[in-house]
Amino acid sequence: MLLEIKDLQKKYKDFVAVDNLNLKVEAGEIYGLLGPNGAGKSTTINAICGLTKVDAGEIMIFGKKFKQHEMEIKKDIGVVPQDIAVFDELSAYENVAFFGRLNGLKGAPLKERVKEALDFTGLWDRKKDKPSQYSGGMKRRLNIACAIVHRPKLIIMDEPTVGIDPQSRNHILESVKKLNEQGSTIIYTSHYMEEIEQLCTRITIIDHGKEIATGTIEELKELILNEERVELELSHVEDVLIKAIKDIKGVKTCEVNGNTIIVVSEKNSENISAITGKAAEFKSKIIAIVVEKPTLERVFLTLTGRKLRD
Ligand SMILES: Nc1ncnc2c1ncn2[C@@H]1O[C@H](COP(=O)(O)OP(=O)(O)O)[C@@H](O)[C@H]1O
Ligand SMILES: [Mg+2]
Repeated sequence: MLLEIKDLQKKYKDFVAVDNLNLKVEAGEIYGLLGPNGAGKSTTINAICGLTKVDAGEIMIFGKKFKQHEMEIKKDIGVVPQDIAVFDELSAYENVAFFGRLNGLKGAPLKERVKEALDFTGLWDRKKDKPSQYSGGMKRRLNIACAIVHRPKLIIMDEPTVGIDPQSRNHILESVKKLNEQGSTIIYTSHYMEEIEQLCTRITIIDHGKEIATGTIEELKELILNEERVELELSHVEDVLIKAIKDIKGVKTCEVNGNTIIVVSEKNSENISAITGKAAEFKSKIIAIVVEKPTLERVFLTLTGRKLRD
């Protein structure tokens, strides 16, 4: 196990921000921490890299207790914090070199690694510019360059794609995959389930500081496969039709939203033809029909009763 967290707890006065959280990350993974704003992702990340004191729990990284081996462990971690942390008065090159030196690099190897990190993030051509001359996405990439200059075994990225342009976003997502292929283990936090779904080998969903579920994307989707959802757009919707649909065996709920109805049935009820049959019987024309495949968004909604994004 590359990282193991047991019963982590963090309070701000009486407020419990992280509530007995457990995490196990194996070497080679891209591990996702998924949760809405305020779920406790950053607090967890900050605890893992020693930026915040925890109230209880144990953190083991690279098989060692974090508390006892903090300095040694930190050398092999690269952190991309949620809030961009670069020096505005230094050029991009000088910024990356600063973080390289901080991690013990010097001389020719330092130069090599700074070039490597700036090449990797697509900033080499703009190395002489200061961060103030950069777009938000470029600053974010510079932040990543600073975090990876020492080739860390574990890279932790806290919502690295928030508030940036789509091009930088794609660049960052590709970089995450590449860094992982080159051997780094990644912990990636986000409230965008599409990103997590696209990138991560395993995921922990957190809400209000608590673990809601852990598993691969497939495993998490299994959790909600006891339901089928069909969405129908109709020419018109009458109460008698809704009543008739609700009376179909296996139908759990039938929600009406204008001329659209959303029917949730038990797993394997094969109710689609029964539902469309009722629509025909009550002379409602079907304009569109969508059978929803399970998504992480739906997993989150089912497990917490809340939407991932408001
Ligand atoms: N320094 C702090 N003082 C008080 N409360 C905080 C502090 N930092 C975070 N919190 C609270 O802890 C909760 C978790 O925050 P955070 O870890 O930043 O969530 P996330 O990163 O998932 O959005 C939030 O309710 C936040 O308001
Ligand atoms: Mg955060």
